[in-house]
Amino acid sequence: MIQKELRQLIEDIPKAEVHYHIDSVPPHLLLRFAERNKVKLPFDTLEGAKEYYKFKDLDEFLEVLQLTCSVIQTEEDYYEIALDSGREAKQQNIIYREAMFTYANDSHQGRGVAFETLMDGFSAGRKAVKEQYGVDLRFIAELDRTQSFERNMAAAKMYLEHKERFPLVAIGYDYAEMGYPACRHEEVFRYIKEHGMDRTAHCGEEVGPESVWESIRCQDVYRLDHGVRSIEEEKLIDYLVGKEMLLTVCPISNVLVGAYPSIQEHPVHDLMKRGVKVCLNSDDPAFFGLNLIDNFIQVADVFELTEADVIGLVRNALLYNFSGQEHLETIDNWLRSHNKEQYI
Ligand code: ADE
Ligand code: ZN
Repeated sequence: MIQKELRQLIEDIPKAEVHYHIDSVPPHLLLRFAERNKVKLPFDTLEGAKEYYKFKDLDEFLEVLQLTCSVIQTEEDYYEIALDSGREAKQQNIIYREAMFTYANDSHQGRGVAFETLMDGFSAGRKAVKEQYGVDLRFIAELDRTQSFERNMAAAKMYLEHKERFPLVAIGYDYAEMGYPACRHEEVFRYIKEHGMDRTAHCGEEVGPESVWESIRCQDVYRLDHGVRSIEEEKLIDYLVGKEMLLTVCPISNVLVGAYPSIQEHPVHDLMKRGVKVCLNSDDPAFFGLNLIDNFIQVADVFELTEADVIGLVRNALLYNFSGQEHLETIDNWLRSHNKEQYI
């Protein structure tokens, strides 16, 4: 059982979450949008949503995710999604969140939603979130790795063209990993790099070390989203440790999509013990029903983490994110005022 003091620390400490899909929309908002936009969902109550959100693997999860996106249509919808994310972040004492969205596939673009609609709604939401909740919400535009080279190149160009109006912190890469090697989009990521934009990629979630090496080699990523299957190759672990490359690990998500049978068998603690820089995240809390604090509590409980471990995980998300170390001072001041300066 996790100690009461450690649980309290997890709840109270100012945190960052950098792997979080904002277009995985919570059911209460989906139901509101469905009604407002006159779109039918396969469920019409919160209980129905829970029943519907059951997946045996990543593919099944991604299918459900795309389907629910069909109710998001207007700028106001995107605004409300961002605002709700800020409210929920504040409840968990999250002060900084990097929110991902995957526009250029059937989730948004394929349904005819203009990028401006998403961009203006999210931008207004970001401003309101800062004002109302004091949370710094930033965005990462994801490229769907199952899409064609041409579509992703066009999407990357569009994101870069809007850079002044909608300042993204990075471009990422997500969706089904199996059968879709990252080097198919090498030129897209070279283009992104040449245009001065940071890069990240989901990898090492469904596929092993070879997929992680591809993201390193063909996408020149700053960090790895998931990356957990790196544990299967010693040489790769040495590389990640040497480069201080952050892994944005989502333990509950990995278990719920069947990547690991349980938290007990998840490699997060082995990665930490090997000296890999790790932070914890919820991935798609709206779908998995469990948030960042739940991820901390389950991992701390199962692996008997110490106070130093927990603070290390929290600080990593503030040390290696895409906004420099802008918010590190907030948590370090919090540690000083709670007589925990030895962890700084
Ligand atoms: N999109 C949302 N969640 C994802 C995940 N866990 N893996 C890949 N793509 C995703
Ligand atoms: Zn993800």
